[in-house]
Amino acid sequence: MKFKDIKALATVQGPARTPSQRLSRRCYSVEDMRKLAAKRLPGSIFDYIEGGGEDEVSLRRNRSSFDDWSFLPKWGSVENLDLGSTLLGGPVSMPLTLAPTGGTRLFHPDGESAVARAAQHAGLPYGLAHLSTTPMEQVSAAAPGARRWFNIEPMQDKAELQAVLDRAAAAGYEALLVNVDCRAIGHRERDYRNGFTAPPSIKLKTVVEGALHPRWALGFLANDAIAFPNLDAAIPDGPLSSTPDMWRTLLAGSYESTDWDDIRDLRTRWNGPIILKGVVNPNDAVIAADIGIDAIQVSNHGGRQLDHMASPLDLLPDIVDRAEGRLEIIVDGGIRRGSDVVKALALGADACSIGRPYLYGLAAAGQAGVAHVLTMFQTEMTRTMMLLGVSSIQELRLEGRDLIRHRAAPLITTSPARNARKGLAEMSTP
Ligand SMILES: Cc1cc2nc3c(=O)[nH]c(=O)nc-3n(C[C@H](O)[C@H](O)[C@H](O)COP(=O)(O)O)c2cc1C
Repeated sequence: MKFKDIKALATVQGPARTPSQRLSRRCYSVEDMRKLAAKRLPGSIFDYIEGGGEDEVSLRRNRSSFDDWSFLPKWGSVENLDLGSTLLGGPVSMPLTLAPTGGTRLFHPDGESAVARAAQHAGLPYGLAHLSTTPMEQVSAAAPGARRWFNIEPMQDKAELQAVLDRAAAAGYEALLVNVDCRAIGHRERDYRNGFTAPPSIKLKTVVEGALHPRWALGFLANDAIAFPNLDAAIPDGPLSSTPDMWRTLLAGSYESTDWDDIRDLRTRWNGPIILKGVVNPNDAVIAADIGIDAIQVSNHGGRQLDHMASPLDLLPDIVDRAEGRLEIIVDGGIRRGSDVVKALALGADACSIGRPYLYGLAAAGQAGVAHVLTMFQTEMTRTMMLLGVSSIQELRLEGRDLIRHRAAPLITTSPARNARKGLAEMSTP
């Protein structure tokens, strides 16, 4: 073969001109984005994203449980494949939300505003953390068309609570995401070993890490000091350094003794939807439905709080059955692929939520990085549903349990009753 023949076969890729072009040639999965984020961030900051509580058993289970569920594709035509769905009465371009993450400007100077803009562009809801490092009003101004939810803790001080609720309503937040899994703060030992505490202590290690990551250091130093401007009057809203241990103070002090009465009280104070975040016990799902809560987010806080918890994915079938469709169910923890979302929906979730994946994108490339992660979820979901043989989210949720099997289940799990319904002869395990 002559050179001109080879040349005719080869297509020469032009230079990547935009950040998103560069990302699409470099990051083919969330894992690729994670590696890029690990390069961009000082080790202790990256570990703050990555870490979990104590021995990180909950953290590891979140991820490994997805491997325990296998697909059983069905044959049939797949036409007009559509990822669109609804959540809490509003449209979503796919059943995915961006979970609240505190301290986001630590990872990129554009922080929460960049995440909100990417969510708006993708047509997905974004939960802004109470411990956000950007004022909630500024996030609203950055992404006025985004579906914005606000994350709070159930507070004992009702005047303080009302002030936050009024502020969130005035800033156009549609729903509340209420934590019920943070009575104490998880023991994230990576952070202690790294000397990465709140406030970040300036140790020699931190200085060296900053010098080795000049792009991150420049962004960090050139921008406003990290602060938590949504905490209102309860905690000084000045720079982090003025409030040592404020996270612990906030979390431990504000709702140690809150209970279901406080959730009932919250229900009377907030007109919009309420999502309880961190529900894992099926009984709690029933109580939540009884008191008029609109949705639960089945979550172990990304493995960052109580260790040795079951993975939210494994808990789903039980919770879905007990909830009997009386509230919507979002699930988070370990979701890294579109196929993970498809598995959760097949098990009955209404939507999934992601934390670390979009933080990797943010750390790697700001808004463009978050957008790339969301696009990867969209293309992966589309491909998975195509291969599985389903055309819509509704079909996936309706037929889901016939399309997925746990590794511990017998090879053929079809029940006689279900066979009869479908007019099939009874099958037995070989
Ligand atoms: C760095 C970081 C900060 C977080 N901060 C909050 C928070 O302020 N409030 C909250 O409800 N959840 C918080 N979470 C938990 C997420 O909302 C979500 O439950 C979790 O990240 C989902 O797991 P995943 O990271 O495996 O997707 C945080 C998670 C991370 C990684």
